[in-house]
Amino acid sequence: MASLRSDLAPDTLTVAAGRPPREHDAPVNAPIVLTTTYHETRAPQPGDRIYARGSNPTWDPFEEALGALEGAELPALVFSSGLGAAAAALSLVPGGGAVLMPRHAYAGSLGLAADLAAQGRFELRVVDVADTAAVLAELAALAGRFDAGQVMLWLESPTNPMLEVAELTVLTDAAHAAGAVVVADNTFNTPIVHRPLEAGVDVVLHSVTKWLAGHSDVVLGALVTSDAALRERLLAHRTLHGAIAGPFEVWLALRGLRTLALRMERSQGTALALAYRLAEHPAVRRVRYPGLPSDPGHERAASQFNGFGGIVSIELDDVATADALVAAVRLWLPATSLGGVESLVERRRRQPAEPLTVPEALVRLSVGIENPDDLWEDLDQALRRAAGGEVLPELTASRASREAGQLS
Ligand SMILES: Cc1ncc(COP(=O)(O)O)c(C=O)c1O
Repeated sequence: MASLRSDLAPDTLTVAAGRPPREHDAPVNAPIVLTTTYHETRAPQPGDRIYARGSNPTWDPFEEALGALEGAELPALVFSSGLGAAAAALSLVPGGGAVLMPRHAYAGSLGLAADLAAQGRFELRVVDVADTAAVLAELAALAGRFDAGQVMLWLESPTNPMLEVAELTVLTDAAHAAGAVVVADNTFNTPIVHRPLEAGVDVVLHSVTKWLAGHSDVVLGALVTSDAALRERLLAHRTLHGAIAGPFEVWLALRGLRTLALRMERSQGTALALAYRLAEHPAVRRVRYPGLPSDPGHERAASQFNGFGGIVSIELDDVATADALVAAVRLWLPATSLGGVESLVERRRRQPAEPLTVPEALVRLSVGIENPDDLWEDLDQALRRAAGGEVLPELTASRASREAGQLS
């Protein structure tokens, strides 16, 4: 791959990183390489590709681009899924160690950690990650019971779907002082909004499935670190456990990454506008979005992040109203997942694995890149129908404001 200046802005890196070298007649895009094996004309040497469970040239440009975007000194590692990446990250905890996780981390990450804990691999503790004092107390208690290198602090900020915001630098510093390794799931923010490695985090995790790939058509994961020894271990885990990505999926993810900055700008702009309107909506009991000044995570998000992301969670009066909302949308798609160009809506507790502390009537909105007024109009009519009211004449107001160029 061609090397790039590391001081380029993230939106430039999304486009420029991971390109083939500038040679006459070379393609501007990396090819998809479909092979299981490589010619061997001498004895294998370190760095040789050898076999495609260990290495595929199609992974390289994506890994280089994501590493550069996260501000890492090393290329990322792409995995078959976000949870495949999570399994590799958790493998860094030595047997008999401990993992401290947000109680509202992504349910799949919690489920995986709980499964490993049930098998006796490590002790799992969960904490309210927005409660800095509680996390510090847990870390101190673990430091008293475990040796340095035995504990992992798992961060997710904002959390999925409660959108709680952690004090990343404070928690990371405390974890390091306690001899813990720190992993941060940066799926919600993406490196456009925040780069956890700059806060001192050791390993960044992505469900590439979401915003990075951005089109709801590939399942992939990634880990990013600047620590060569950790990267070696994660790479060894990927190869030995076979959690590898298909070349076509990775090629699609790199293609999606090229527009990440534009998509995030659009999604988070619309998310903020919708959050303000939802906060005023009579059918909505509570809006969770760190971009709202009234949100408990607002100050932290404003000081740490370069934006507030494209996910908004709303709480309705009861489960029936929440289900009715999901059933009543016509433009928003009722589906799980998030981070694609299309807007999705889901009552999270429909998923049996969701933590019971997530309110039953909480609906997560993944804001896509459609026209913001169309999104609002659909949400508004669905909310009104869900709340049992008539479809009121004000429904036409947002279209009128769009025509007048007044989109908020
Ligand atoms: C925050 C977060 N992390 C990790 C994952 C797991 O990623 P994947 O579905 O690609 O395995 C998800 C999936 O929803 C997620 O939302």
